[in-house]
Amino acid sequence: MKVVDRAALGQQFQLGVATSSYQIEGAVQADGRAPSIWDTFAHVPGKIRDGSSGDVACDHYHRMAEDVALLAWLGVDAYRFSIAWPRVVPQGRGQVNQRGLDFYERLVDALLERGIAPCATLYHWDLPEALERGGGWLSRDTAQAFADYSAAVAARLGDRVALWLTHNEPWCQAFLGYELGYFAPGKRDLAQALTCAHHLLLSHGLAVSALRSQVRSPLGIAPNFMPAHPASSAAEDVAAAARQDAYFNRWFIEPALGLGYPAELLSRCGELLPHGAERDLELIAQPIDVVGVNYYERSVVRHAAGSGWLEVGRVRESELPRTADREIYPAGLLEVVERLHRQYGVKRIVITENGAASTADEAVVDGGVRDPVRVAFLREHLEQVVIARQRGVPVEGFFAWSLLDNFEWAEGYTLRYGVVHVDFETQRRTPKDSALFLRSLRRPGR
Ligand code: FCB
Repeated sequence: MKVVDRAALGQQFQLGVATSSYQIEGAVQADGRAPSIWDTFAHVPGKIRDGSSGDVACDHYHRMAEDVALLAWLGVDAYRFSIAWPRVVPQGRGQVNQRGLDFYERLVDALLERGIAPCATLYHWDLPEALERGGGWLSRDTAQAFADYSAAVAARLGDRVALWLTHNEPWCQAFLGYELGYFAPGKRDLAQALTCAHHLLLSHGLAVSALRSQVRSPLGIAPNFMPAHPASSAAEDVAAAARQDAYFNRWFIEPALGLGYPAELLSRCGELLPHGAERDLELIAQPIDVVGVNYYERSVVRHAAGSGWLEVGRVRESELPRTADREIYPAGLLEVVERLHRQYGVKRIVITENGAASTADEAVVDGGVRDPVRVAFLREHLEQVVIARQRGVPVEGFFAWSLLDNFEWAEGYTLRYGVVHVDFETQRRTPKDSALFLRSLRRPGR
């Protein structure tokens, strides 16, 4: 075991917590915000496990000052939040809603006053519904609309945001949203998923070039990574793991880094890519400064003949301990960052998400919340960060998911990921033991 303390992480290391707009803000009709695809999806009966939505969520839009005070108490160096496109450009393109930008400007200024670096994600899945009606991510024009929206945000906040991330987990938007139907907009069509994926990548490239001319702070993207391990040493399981890896881990980062789409999978699905996709590869591969890593788990897979185009089956991993929803596998984080650095030559890495779920009944007792599994989870993953840094892998920061319990997408409020407990009846916030753990890692003097 490695010691995880501030000295081990380094004084320059950026420790923070993360959230996203639709999961915490609520106030879905405030100040000119128009609906997003998640507003629509959440209100379709049967899509969200507990029938809930983000209509109110943590009511962060109205409680922002209280939440920033919480961040200051936590002593974090940085805060990662996402900007809701439908607040800033309610119709997706055209008119910019200054009142939407006002909110994020108040947030950014409040963070800066407390000495907390604001890190903004431009897209965490809340596409304006108005764009969806015109084809959404299936339409190439949406990529340009994203770049224009990004430029509008940068015009207001470009001098103050410390780190810009274009997309959060594009795999989830494309494949959970369009192949598996589990996320908004709830489609089930591989060709649509691949088209969405391509337009997300294109929009990333266009946004990076738009931002590059406007801001000086680092730019990046935050894909999710899940090492794919074969269930056995049989050649066909090893090959299945390689396919899973290409599908999940390589589909976005390789084009973004100028390596094109993984060739192995093109033989299975290449003809479903939008016509002329290869001509966009150069636009997609704009130089970026940072790769964000969202890491939660690994997958163990076997060859599954005839089970869909990928012919991969996920097996339940092992006897390792689990959180409420996944196996706990900290070594996978080291595997991901070492690969990014050694195989792809990435020079700056930030862990943009990592955290543990508990079930909805996690409760406040005597003014606190005992969450030993989450404390151990964060400690063990930070240990891997310490090891990575000792090995020369440039991991510069770590954001725990999440500051607050919040609307966990299709799982609604059935899972709690916060280091701060939220009572959704009263909106009372109560720091859990995991918040105290993070607080114990704050820089001296904070
Ligand atoms: C990630 C998402 C984040 C949250 C966590 C638990 O996939 O980026 O919004 O839902 O999982």
